Amino acid sequence: MVKIDHIELPDFPLLLAPMEDVSDPPFRALCKENGADVVYTEFISSEGLIRDAAKSVMKLDIYEKERPVGIQIFGANLDSMLRSVEIVEKTNPDIIDINFGCPVKKVVSKGAGAGILKDIDLMVKLTEAMVKHTNLPITVKTRLGWDHDSIRIVEVAERLQDVGCKAIAIHGRTRAQMYKGDADWGPISEVKNNQRMHIPVFGNGDITSPERAMEMRDKYGLDGAMIGRASIGYPWFFNEVKHYFKTGEHLAKPTIAQRTEMARRHLQMSIDWKGEHLGVVETRRHYTNYFKGIPHFKEYRLKMVTSDDPKDVFATFDEVEQKFGDALIPKIG
Ligand SMILES: Cc1cc2nc3c(=O)[nH]c(=O)nc-3n(C[C@H](O)[C@H](O)[C@H](O)COP(=O)(O)O)c2cc1C
Repeated sequence: MVKIDHIELPDFPLLLAPMEDVSDPPFRALCKENGADVVYTEFISSEGLIRDAAKSVMKLDIYEKERPVGIQIFGANLDSMLRSVEIVEKTNPDIIDINFGCPVKKVVSKGAGAGILKDIDLMVKLTEAMVKHTNLPITVKTRLGWDHDSIRIVEVAERLQDVGCKAIAIHGRTRAQMYKGDADWGPISEVKNNQRMHIPVFGNGDITSPERAMEMRDKYGLDGAMIGRASIGYPWFFNEVKHYFKTGEHLAKPTIAQRTEMARRHLQMSIDWKGEHLGVVETRRHYTNYFKGIPHFKEYRLKMVTSDDPKDVFATFDEVEQKFGDALIPKIG
């Protein structure tokens, strides 16, 4: 069993990664239904929260059914981070996660996200202050380091643990890499192998198949896997990994009827949660993956991503289902 503070999780839990404009309540709920053990919100600006910016506050919404859920916040200002912890606490998440990994210039230039990897003392100080400021478990998501020459993740993780961080998720890339190259799980494994580490160490980056998840567990010895891109438009991924762990066999891929049904539910939940316009627009990014592998799909995809009227999108789902029926998509990349 793996524990994040008092939260008990199964062996080698699967975590839905925080993803901006992706990890919203509808998508998190679908991932949870399909095997995710912990889900995270997208990152939320501490400065936005304390200004009561509607966009940031809306991101605090959680459904009961998705628990345990972590709310991820970012910032570099101690006072703002502490005030935002108080705001986040009111929505009663299970975990508060600190984003020390976002590589985007706008965030990094303010010393937040991966920007803090240039100032490890501040990273530790912020974490310690947040731990002391709340009874909720504080966890951290970060990268290997600022760049290849400054990877000190073993020492960093130990220091975060020593100030009360309850789990750490590490994306196996540096900030300098952004999303390029392959994620390197070696240094994450070194963190886990540090005899002094006792909090869960979760690996992240490039888990694209059940086999890769198994490699992270068996070869790299990590405590769990945080999964991002492989789940976009494909919430089945979590159960596929679990099934493979249990049986050594691959779960049958969802049929097109199952895919259209999932897309329908996703769109409807998004509309219910954020209204018709945003619901339609923000679910679009999932369709490519929902229907990946269908031959000559372009025409349908185009309709799905250009229509502003949900009725048209639902009608396109129906059309796809009727045309392709119960066909199995032979291979999904
Ligand atoms: C669209 C998108 C949005 C992301 N937003 C966030 C975020 O808000 N917070 C965060 O910590 N990481 C964010 N990430 C990084 C992911 O959590 C994850 O670390 C990264 O995608 C590598 O994992 P993967 O290979 O499984 O996708 C984002 C990634 C993507 C693709």
